[in-house]
Amino acid sequence: MSALDLRGRTVALTGASGGIGAALTAEFVASGARVLAIGRDAARLRRLVDAHPLGAVVALAADVSEADGRADIVARARDEKVSVLVLAHAQAAFGLFESQSDEALERMVRTNLTAPMQLIRALLPALRAQAPAAVVAVGSTFGALAFPGFAGYSASKYGLRGLIEGLHREYADAPIRFQYLAPRATRTDFNSAAVVAMNRELKTAEDAPETVAAALRAAIERGTTRAQLGWPEALFVRLNGLLPGLIDRDLKKRLPIVRRHAAASSGASSSTSSSSTASSVSSSSVEVPHDPVRS
Ligand SMILES: NC(=O)c1ccc[n+]([C@@H]2O[C@H](COP(=O)([O-])OP(=O)(O)OC[C@H]3O[C@@H](n4cnc5c(N)ncnc54)[C@H](OP(=O)(O)O)[C@@H]3O)[C@@H](O)[C@H]2O)c1
Repeated sequence: MSALDLRGRTVALTGASGGIGAALTAEFVASGARVLAIGRDAARLRRLVDAHPLGAVVALAADVSEADGRADIVARARDEKVSVLVLAHAQAAFGLFESQSDEALERMVRTNLTAPMQLIRALLPALRAQAPAAVVAVGSTFGALAFPGFAGYSASKYGLRGLIEGLHREYADAPIRFQYLAPRATRTDFNSAAVVAMNRELKTAEDAPETVAAALRAAIERGTTRAQLGWPEALFVRLNGLLPGLIDRDLKKRLPIVRRHAAASSGASSSTSSSSTASSVSSSSVEVPHDPVRS
């Protein structure tokens, strides 16, 4: 893939006010891009706009999971001549699967998978009008290595990965690229107290959002089609594809820890964070423990 120069481009960024999104906004601005920052909370977006030079970041309060919100994004993206869409929003969902309600699961899948599908489709004409263009989905380690306590969330990220891979292949001869880039556990509010405690007990490595954002920006500029951030998470993801039984056995050993934290989380709130706990397969043998498999 050829390199993508971000200078002078306008990037539409969902989840811009989040931990990774805010750090990505700073990366894009430093690279000379303008950012159309999207989130639901206008006050958080305003703080993001104020943290950057005048005009570098413009805000749009919109809910990507609602048709009206997506229509607002499409109209604004046309006006702003957006050529790069970065999807960095998501809803977390950590907990025992049986304790999660149909409504919570439906909302999570709508936010993490259906809405990206609908938004990408609606934005394609505007993006192609500004070609060369790019659509980047921020995935998760759990999009290639499903984790106990995150079954529903893993399903949504597996789906997102499949969507981007399918589009990458469907538009292989078009001047628009599709990239799926997966961070591992990252220190943001995405992870509930229960997830943070579990990660600590599992010795799951967590990245700073700034580190993740720098890696994502570099991968976007390089045009990397797929990436799993972090080591050994990248190895575990590959192992999970080739020898999933190894990962099954390692995670079975960790299941009591996951269950305990998931049960606590389910008791505290029905659907909470997700992200990152990952597991890591330790360097000797195949242990998926302590450094998460990034998501
Ligand atoms: N943190 C981790 O450990 C981790 C690990 C792997 C992958 N990831 C992935 O990285 C991405 C960013 O995560 P993060 O850690 O930065 O999360 P975060 O800090 O919780 O931020 C989430 C962002 O998404 C926005 N958002 C949520 N639902 C939305 C909706 N329906 N419409 C519009 N905006 C919405 C939030 O803003 P409003 O609430 O104002 O709408 C916020 O800006 C996600 O895709 C996540 O799955 C995170």
